[in-house]
Amino acid sequence: MQRADTPDFSDGYPIQDIGDGAIVSGRVGEQSVILVRRGQEFFAVGAACTHYHAPLANGLLVEDTVRCPMHHACFSLRTGEALRAPALDPIDTWRVEMLADKVYVREKLTPSSRPSGAHCSSDPSSVVIVGGGAAAVAAADMLRRNGYAGPLAMVSADDAAPYDRPNVSKDYLAGTAPEEWMPLRSTSYYSEQRIDLHLKQRVTSIDTAGRLAHLADGRQLAYGALLLATGVEPIRLAVSATSGSRIFYLRTLADSRAIIAAAAQAKTALVVGASFIGLEVAASLRARGLEVHLAGLDSVPLQRVLGPVVGAFVQRLHESKGVTFHLGQSVVRVDANHVTLSGGTILPADFVVMGVGVKPDLALAGQAGLLIDRGVLTNEFLETSVPGVFAAGDIARWPDPHSGERIRVEHWVVAQRQGQIAARNILGAREPCAIVPFFWSQHYEVAINYVGHAEQWDVSAIDGSLESRDCAISYRRGERTLAVATISRDLQSLRAEHAFEAP
Ligand SMILES: Cc1cc2nc3c(=O)[nH]c(=O)nc-3n(C[C@H](O)[C@H](O)[C@H](O)COP(=O)(O)OP(=O)(O)OC[C@H]3O[C@@H](n4cnc5c(N)ncnc54)[C@H](O)[C@@H]3O)c2cc1C
Ligand code: FES
Repeated sequence: MQRADTPDFSDGYPIQDIGDGAIVSGRVGEQSVILVRRGQEFFAVGAACTHYHAPLANGLLVEDTVRCPMHHACFSLRTGEALRAPALDPIDTWRVEMLADKVYVREKLTPSSRPSGAHCSSDPSSVVIVGGGAAAVAAADMLRRNGYAGPLAMVSADDAAPYDRPNVSKDYLAGTAPEEWMPLRSTSYYSEQRIDLHLKQRVTSIDTAGRLAHLADGRQLAYGALLLATGVEPIRLAVSATSGSRIFYLRTLADSRAIIAAAAQAKTALVVGASFIGLEVAASLRARGLEVHLAGLDSVPLQRVLGPVVGAFVQRLHESKGVTFHLGQSVVRVDANHVTLSGGTILPADFVVMGVGVKPDLALAGQAGLLIDRGVLTNEFLETSVPGVFAAGDIARWPDPHSGERIRVEHWVVAQRQGQIAARNILGAREPCAIVPFFWSQHYEVAINYVGHAEQWDVSAIDGSLESRDCAISYRRGERTLAVATISRDLQSLRAEHAFEAP
């Protein structure tokens, strides 16, 4: 279908109509393309992000890169390479030619096989990645992208190959994301990339002197470098449960499937925990038509992360969609069709989903003799206290150059970017981890983006209006802005991220 309303750049586009730093949306034949001007240079690249297909025309240009408005992936305008997660695949690029007063977009370019700046000064005899989540898959991908050709094994306790974990509480649980959206990579990817994927398999111990990872089935894998990316596990709540009662935790795709199966037979559910995951589960179960009650110890949801004003807004949003809150309370007893809260209230509930927090499982790291302190301690290069052993993702506590403190965060994008940095450092890049933390959370039609890191702040200032769902909230301590949360202000979020990156 011809789209006469958008310019076809192959016919030429007037140079005077595209100012420096502008992005123009158009096409080349049937393919959607953006044309970008940086000084006297022009770039033509694919219009959609390869993560969730957000329009890059709404993104931010930083030097010769474009950043995605939705979850802040970053692409090279020169090569199309996905420089920063969460996108892992490149965007297309086209050759551009200037003739007289027009710029013409010509043929599509073939992606170069190696990214610019690829680094492989160290070539470990083999790499073992422990874990099969966000950090693990991004690391494996980056090792191969950077030309590492040696043996590469990924060992995951999960029974599914790496998948889109944030979606297990959102669209997938709500029934609006099909199965095929969930895998991060196709099944053939692992064999094509010669990644030896061990699923449903645990690393039970690491012999750091002999450089061996021992697996639960008795096998052992030799490594030249090892990446520990074992994430966190849900905190289990001690609660009295009678026979026939059903209590679920949500970390894996299998957990999400089990909740979906329970929801198909149920009319009512209780979610315990007014956390991001608890709230997202509540929204998804409402989308499935269940009556949903939510109990949580905090007096306002999310107040420790977003503050009481934003937390109250999120609560009102969920209430407007039919979720009933029971705050300041937990659950003490679960029966087959009802639950008892700590305040004595008895509610109907065919099942319960617990979202009461997570903790890093440090047993493996402890056994291996790695230094641990509320996480696995790393240096700025994400290397642990034991040479050749790196850590990334939810388990890693690294020296954050922005706050000057050691931090550990539980964000998808951070885990993936750390996996990418660790991979480059395994290959000798010596790249410091200077990531500005970023996460997003979805509540019905409202997406909250958050950049920076604020564990404690003096002032939170709202620019715009929460009720009209168009605002930015700055979290400040003294003169410093520590973090910025935004609703419907994607460009502002990208600008805040870029500002935080400044040394
Ligand atoms: C339901 C849900 C929704 C989320 N939504 C968001 C969101 O919207 N935005 C956001 O920023 N973040 C979100 N997160 C957080 C995000 O998913 C995590 O920060 C991210 O997955 C961490 O990546 P990771 O690689 O460190 O660990 P994980 O992705 O948890 O992967 C850990 C892997 O290690 C494996 N493993 C553990 N121990 C062993 C062992 N001994 N041997 C072998 N394998 C082992 C596990 O099986 C798993 O494959 C969400 C998390 C959940 C659970
Ligand atoms: S859609 Fe672009 S980063 Fe998610």
